[in-house]
Amino acid sequence: MLATDRRQFIKTLAATTAAVSATRGIFAMQNSTRPGPIKALVFDAYGTLFDVFSVTSLCEQLFPGNGTALAMMWRAKQLQYTLLRSMMNRYKDFWQLTQDGLVYSAHSLKLDLTVEKRTRLMDAYLTLAAFPDVKPGLAALKGLGVRLAILSNGEPKMLQSAAKSAGISDLLDAIISVDEIKVFKPSPRVYQLIASHLKVAAGETGYVSSNNWDVNGAGSAGLTAFWIQRAAAEPAEELGYPAARVVHLITDLPALVAGG
Ligand code: LAC
Repeated sequence: MLATDRRQFIKTLAATTAAVSATRGIFAMQNSTRPGPIKALVFDAYGTLFDVFSVTSLCEQLFPGNGTALAMMWRAKQLQYTLLRSMMNRYKDFWQLTQDGLVYSAHSLKLDLTVEKRTRLMDAYLTLAAFPDVKPGLAALKGLGVRLAILSNGEPKMLQSAAKSAGISDLLDAIISVDEIKVFKPSPRVYQLIASHLKVAAGETGYVSSNNWDVNGAGSAGLTAFWIQRAAAEPAEELGYPAARVVHLITDLPALVAGG
């Protein structure tokens, strides 16, 4: 994402926040499938709750002129390594892959990643900023009696740390990590973890992600999936298991669940 794209993204997010009730009407028209009664909502973590690009300013501070390129390549490599390692059947936890992705990206961009800089950037991953709609959205859903959880590629300690730093730990009934089965999304085995942890029927569970490939993975595994389309220009993936509903903010979900 170029700096201008990022500014546009933030502007779009702000505009969408201001027009929540109007957009809700539009999305209701665009999404004709009404999900069934929802008793539990399970959220992806990185990109959905926590803004992985909140490390960009530290990247820029440490590597002037390369912050955006480094943040983007770091995220892309981190995800690519999850897919490659799942296919290779050579699991390493997400903390390690996040570091491996950072080291690769620094090499690729010819940046001198000292141990001190590497440690500062990795530590930033423990306290990523939550998107502004996360806490109010989760609190409203909790108020409706919906059970809430995270299901993430993240390693358990890094997820707990990010949730605590975002002030949402108390709103969550569970933090479920792929680490217990040692394979990454979008393996169907990952989405099957939800039923065993939450004891809620798959038909009464909604899965929420901003990563459209993850939405397709959940849909393919039989879950009702909601896509948080955080960047207005982002198209859906051509994978065949589209979201049941598309929204822009987590604060859009309570109305859908209450009205579903
Ligand atoms: C996660 C990655 C996919 O949190 O963002 O699982």
